[in-house]
Amino acid sequence: MTGARLILGKDVSESIYSELRVRIQALKNNGTTPGLAVVLVGDDPASQVYVRMKGKMCEELGMRSLTITLPPSATQEELLAKIGELNRDPGIHGFLVQLPLPGHMDEEEVINAIDPRKDVDCFHPSNVGRMLIGNPDFLPATPAGVQQMLIRSGIDTSGRHVVVVGRSNIVGKPMAAMMLQKGKGADSTVTVVHSRTKDLPSATRQADILIVAIGKPKFITADMVKDGAVVIDVGTNRVDDPSSPKGSRLVGDVDFDAVREKASAISPVPGGVGPMTICMLMANTVAAAEMAAEVIR
Ligand code: GUN
Repeated sequence: MTGARLILGKDVSESIYSELRVRIQALKNNGTTPGLAVVLVGDDPASQVYVRMKGKMCEELGMRSLTITLPPSATQEELLAKIGELNRDPGIHGFLVQLPLPGHMDEEEVINAIDPRKDVDCFHPSNVGRMLIGNPDFLPATPAGVQQMLIRSGIDTSGRHVVVVGRSNIVGKPMAAMMLQKGKGADSTVTVVHSRTKDLPSATRQADILIVAIGKPKFITADMVKDGAVVIDVGTNRVDDPSSPKGSRLVGDVDFDAVREKASAISPVPGGVGPMTICMLMANTVAAAEMAAEVIR
């Protein structure tokens, strides 16, 4: 095998955005402009970049965008009060609180305070539960993005062995639950492995589809991948690179150059899963606006 096919989130997200534009126009024709609010507490530079990208994408799609910035010294009560306002604001159909929060805040209490019908991150326990039983209003953005990449690249998942590397609440756990559901882009046999797994390589070598979200550069080497596997790299690790103008660059969790020689299809970093997360957040916001406007889909 010389070089796997590339699965590019950029291309997949563009086709989803064209579908969303149609739905947004239909909502607007009926008097509803979908609105997304993002709450940022503190001044973490990476979070500031993500929040700006979300606002910019809303504007590109003709959606309403509201960014609320609270100082690092904001109290839990101030944040909860802001969440209450957004829960009651009829012009805001979805919102999220950018994570991580400053250390003095209780993340769980914050997530629980969000109205589940506006929880476009799909972090509220009620939405996580709905996803697990296969009756979701929303799907978590990054795993939903991975699933769309598989579906729209024509990769059959039914009965295939999906191995998920990593068990975070944001990616690994929901990813495994979604691939296990009945239906399109799922129906898989699922194994989850993580930092405490004994003989992890023998498990990853069983994967027809390997989805990696463990947060360690070059964690997946070629010897851990079966010939012809599909490899999706969710990792975003910033590593030092003196040759780059920034002094650093983004790499995934997969040793890309070596693994692409063995895989049948692979997503690079950057340009792979990255663009999908915001895309699926926009999709959830449009879905939230449709729910609020009682559009039947
Ligand atoms: N921080 C990093 N990823 C995310 C995400 O998907 N949602 C929120 N709210 N914060 C994040």
